Amino acid sequence: MTSKPTDQTIMVAKPASFKPSGPLTGQIMVPGDKSISHRSLILSALAIGKSQITGLLEGEDVLATAAALRAMGATIEKKGDVWTVHGVGVGGLMQPETAIDLGNSGTSVRLLMGLVASHDISVTFTGDASLSKRPMGRVIEPLSAMGAEFTARMSSDGKACLPLTVRGLCPAVPLEYRLPVASAQVKSAILLAGLNMPGVTRVIEPVPTRDHSETMLKGFGADLTVEMDKDSNRIITLAGEAELSPQKIKVPGDPSSAAFPVVAALLVPGSDIVVENVGINPTRAGLFTILQQMGGDISFKKKRTVGGEPVADIHVKHSKLNGINVPADIAPSMIDEFPILFIAAALAEGTTTTSGLHELRVKESDRLKQMAEGLRIIGVELAEKEDGLAIIGSGGAPLPGGTNMPAIETALDHRIAMSFAVAGLATASGLTIDDIAPVETSFPGFADLMKTLAS
Ligand code: S3P
Repeated sequence: MTSKPTDQTIMVAKPASFKPSGPLTGQIMVPGDKSISHRSLILSALAIGKSQITGLLEGEDVLATAAALRAMGATIEKKGDVWTVHGVGVGGLMQPETAIDLGNSGTSVRLLMGLVASHDISVTFTGDASLSKRPMGRVIEPLSAMGAEFTARMSSDGKACLPLTVRGLCPAVPLEYRLPVASAQVKSAILLAGLNMPGVTRVIEPVPTRDHSETMLKGFGADLTVEMDKDSNRIITLAGEAELSPQKIKVPGDPSSAAFPVVAALLVPGSDIVVENVGINPTRAGLFTILQQMGGDISFKKKRTVGGEPVADIHVKHSKLNGINVPADIAPSMIDEFPILFIAAALAEGTTTTSGLHELRVKESDRLKQMAEGLRIIGVELAEKEDGLAIIGSGGAPLPGGTNMPAIETALDHRIAMSFAVAGLATASGLTIDDIAPVETSFPGFADLMKTLAS
């Protein structure tokens, strides 16, 4: 594991080159789902007693959540393949002694802000250069309405950012809140705050986002219901003063990580791979649907349910892809997968257009800008709009690439790094990225796993 980047430490970038590849073959498993891993730790820390988790993602982001929960009183340890969490109970979090550094992880900071908001503690959160640029107002606003108080650094363009301090209120005030932006992080922050207050918290979701928090809260015994209203809004209602009971959790493989070998197999001629044990929750599986619509030979084998989540083995064969107009309303179900979709689009026949992607500008990096810049470097023609890219595909011909071209800037963004690593396999002469280190946040072992498919 690389050390966590903070304002206090100087990170050394690790450039990496990716060369054209022969056929990718074999069966692999990807690490555990990042969203479910964060939630497994958080909810286990709020249960009374001992929960056990297998398949937990041991990436930097999730380890940052674990460290934060330990600092607030939970006992979290690993023996063999099993993570054990001794929870403190809802309302039982303790005042941490120092500021909490969450590295690169937006999910950690936003979910933990919700947790702290309804506890009688005050916590300062810090993060790396990427996390420190990301907007926190979207969480501060509803949590302030619940009674929490915030002091945040204001960015030069007037956004509330890290470092920030949240002073929780106990008892806090329950809230009914309509999400102004499709964000599972904001939804989850409000629900986590709602666990430790009297009364009912309600979140209205006009556009559905990943529903792991709802599924897992119910699994831990919270009184939570989901209904659709006549205008197709999802109404999530949570009873406060919850008591959570400890669980045994099996975390499935992360579809957002599986996306990289899946696209690599589609792009590299002669490939035929299986990615086993991948979560295919419909709120996460938009990329696979779009790739199938582009002509990708992707099939789901051994479909089953694990811990309330749909799981399958994904079989992928090299395919000729066609450009497509990606409908804006599918974006939330593939919000983290656009960087790798853009790589697939760069090798498709014809033009792929995307829209409604303003959120991509406030992820670990400005993903529209970084992808546009990197794709241009390796010879792809495209147009960048405020809310999407239009990419003219090569029709399957290898992208030029070339190690004499400038290294592609990954901007502390794991998904930019992995997307261009996959692109490198489908170039005529390879490419270099300026830093592979960010991959450790979500997909430890990525480069080695990809090598096993090529050998
Ligand atoms: C996540 C939600 C998404 C996603 C992030 C993980 C989560 O963010 O981009 O990687 O675990 O809730 P938003 O909810 O802000 O879109």
